[in-house]
Amino acid sequence: MPDASVVLRPIEEADLGRLRRLDTDPSVSEPFDWYGFPNPHSRRRRWDEDGFIGRDPCVLAVGLPDRTLAGVVSWRAVRPGGGVEGGCFEIGVLLFPEHRGRGLGSEAQRLLVDYLFATTLANRLQAVTDAENLAEQRALERIGFEREGVMRGVAFIGGSWRDMVMYARLRPAPPAEAQPGPNAGIG
Ligand SMILES: CC(C)(COP(=O)(O)OP(=O)(O)OC[C@H]1O[C@@H](n2cnc3c(N)ncnc32)[C@H](O)[C@@H]1OP(=O)(O)O)[C@@H](O)C(=O)NCCC(=O)NCCS
Repeated sequence: MPDASVVLRPIEEADLGRLRRLDTDPSVSEPFDWYGFPNPHSRRRRWDEDGFIGRDPCVLAVGLPDRTLAGVVSWRAVRPGGGVEGGCFEIGVLLFPEHRGRGLGSEAQRLLVDYLFATTLANRLQAVTDAENLAEQRALERIGFEREGVMRGVAFIGGSWRDMVMYARLRPAPPAEAQPGPNAGIG
């Protein structure tokens, strides 16, 4: 696969104009990620408030080496099955159309996984995507997510109820030498 070099960084003020595309041009998010026009002022307000980091959903820029904004990744705490707060995050990603199909989506999500396991106590990261979104399913599989099942008729997108697929990846076990052995604490 060609060059997949991206960084994750906080959203900068200069990115806001480019992000407006997400709110005004449905073709950027269709067919899997368009839920209708949002409040056109809310993105600037959120950036003024906390730069998209601080409350859910949190958002980071997917940046090219020259700082071009290629897309965004996001995450929010979820508590499936009544789990403890902070034990599970749901992640998302969107690249602008001109940056797709070059490995950047896989790489951006791989960086997000590393970041969340390094900076939070999450044990589980999950991602939910349209059953027909093969690019996202493949990207998740490439970075170690496992397909757990189909949620039928759960999202209303583009005028119809859609099936969504649940993927998840668990926090890697610590290396064997870091775990207490059977004789730990003896002698
Ligand atoms: C989904 C998305 C993040 C994937 O990122 P990407 O950079 O385009 O994908 P990658 O180049 O990393 O490719 C990942 C895999 O999907 C495959 N793929 C890419 N486009 C595909 C398509 N249209 N159909 C089927 N497979 C596709 C690639 O060949 C690659 O598989 P491989 O490892 O076997 O070669 C990106 O396309 C995107 O932002 N789409 C719009 C928003 C979206 O759908 N977000 C996810 C919502 S949950």
